[in-house]
Amino acid sequence: MTERRLEGRLIALGVTGSIAAYKAAELARRLLDEGAELQVLLSRSGREFIGPLTFETLTRRRVLSDPLELLGDGRIAHIVVADSADAIVVAPATARWIAAMAAGLSDDIITATCLASAAPVVVAPAMDGEMYRHPATQANLERLRGYGYTVVPPEEGALASGQRGIGRLAATESVLDAVAASVADRPVRAPEPAARPPQEETVREPDLAGRRVVVTAGGTAEPIDPVRFIGNRSSGKMGVAIAQAAMARGADVTLIAGTVNVPLPEEAEVVRAETAEAMRSAVLKELARADVLVMAAAVADFRPSRAQARKLERGAALALELESTPDILAEASRMVREGRVPGRARGVEGPGRRTVLVGFAAETGSLERAAAKLASKGVDLLVANDVSDPASGFGSDTNRVTVLGRGGSVEEWTILPKREVADRILDRVVALLETAVESARSGSKVSTEMSA
Ligand code: CTP
Repeated sequence: MTERRLEGRLIALGVTGSIAAYKAAELARRLLDEGAELQVLLSRSGREFIGPLTFETLTRRRVLSDPLELLGDGRIAHIVVADSADAIVVAPATARWIAAMAAGLSDDIITATCLASAAPVVVAPAMDGEMYRHPATQANLERLRGYGYTVVPPEEGALASGQRGIGRLAATESVLDAVAASVADRPVRAPEPAARPPQEETVREPDLAGRRVVVTAGGTAEPIDPVRFIGNRSSGKMGVAIAQAAMARGADVTLIAGTVNVPLPEEAEVVRAETAEAMRSAVLKELARADVLVMAAAVADFRPSRAQARKLERGAALALELESTPDILAEASRMVREGRVPGRARGVEGPGRRTVLVGFAAETGSLERAAAKLASKGVDLLVANDVSDPASGFGSDTNRVTVLGRGGSVEEWTILPKREVADRILDRVVALLETAVESARSGSKVSTEMSA
């Protein structure tokens, strides 16, 4: 299994005009396998050897080639890459590029990015043997080492000229190891998606086509009187990201929105439910047609026992009596397991048609209670996050979660953009839906055999 040494990192891969440029596609794939996000910088002469489409398909990012290029939002592309990359690797690096870099000539996208960046730089030269041994090239490489750059030396072997000698691009494995080593003792920065060069929307397999995914998002506001309420800091970002990711995979989505401060996707069926009670009614109603229920909402655990009909007046003090709210997820899960979802015929339940249930657990400090919650809520997946961690807190664009499965699996994911967390959760959901269909198929086979 591939180690994921680059999880959470953005790596800029510079490709210059050498015959070995085709090997950069393999390097790109290996960097992605290690968990990195990639931005490819392809020099103009590099484009003569390999087309941008190969890299764009692999990385889901537009390849950059021009130092004057702007991103869609007007930012200067190479500066955005220089600031957000955790490391820059130039493979293959030609003699000309090495010379330009040694001299600090920023007339191509890769030198411009390196000059503007404080990130570690790994350089893997590839050229003819005589060119490599030339004192100019050796002096230039020495200068790059002097900048703190890591040079991964080329290997001996057959060269493009037909001769044998030193100059072949180092093995992909060696370049990969050098990149991993260059970032190993640096902390993973919380990926601020807005700071990185934008990623194209992934075209996903429509693996949720024909499925109804019901997602709750945001917090609830429990009224004290007509103007005041007890609420929480949930923004709705995580739930909305799940709704969007599910739609991109072909699902029909019902988004049950509590109090949110993000725009709601227009293509979803949106149901507003701003109290725990309203959310309960909406969830139980939608359960009849839900293939998947994701409870990402932060439902209030307590509400005032009695909401005042008139605005409370100022006094010396106020004691509020609170009562606990219904546990929506636990109730939904009981109904699903016992096959008594209102509006859903009993026979419709069972293998292949059981609603997959996903719960969230907002904890502060310790995630130990999450396993107990998985059992007490009776869910298939429990996504636990520490909301006191700034990378996972309310309103953040990123989340660091631990995902617990009913079978006892525990996966700790690194800090990821919420959309990426959403897709990874849905990957697990799709697998659960498929397992259910499989078991339904083998179940029906058994019964046919028995009745024959
Ligand atoms: N949840 C729910 N109904 C509630 C409270 C929570 O359906 N009244 C759901 C949430 O949407 C979430 C999961 O239950 O998916 C866990 O929420 P959390 O607040 O972490 O758990 P609680 O059961 O409230 O436990 P505690 O507050 O004691 O940690």
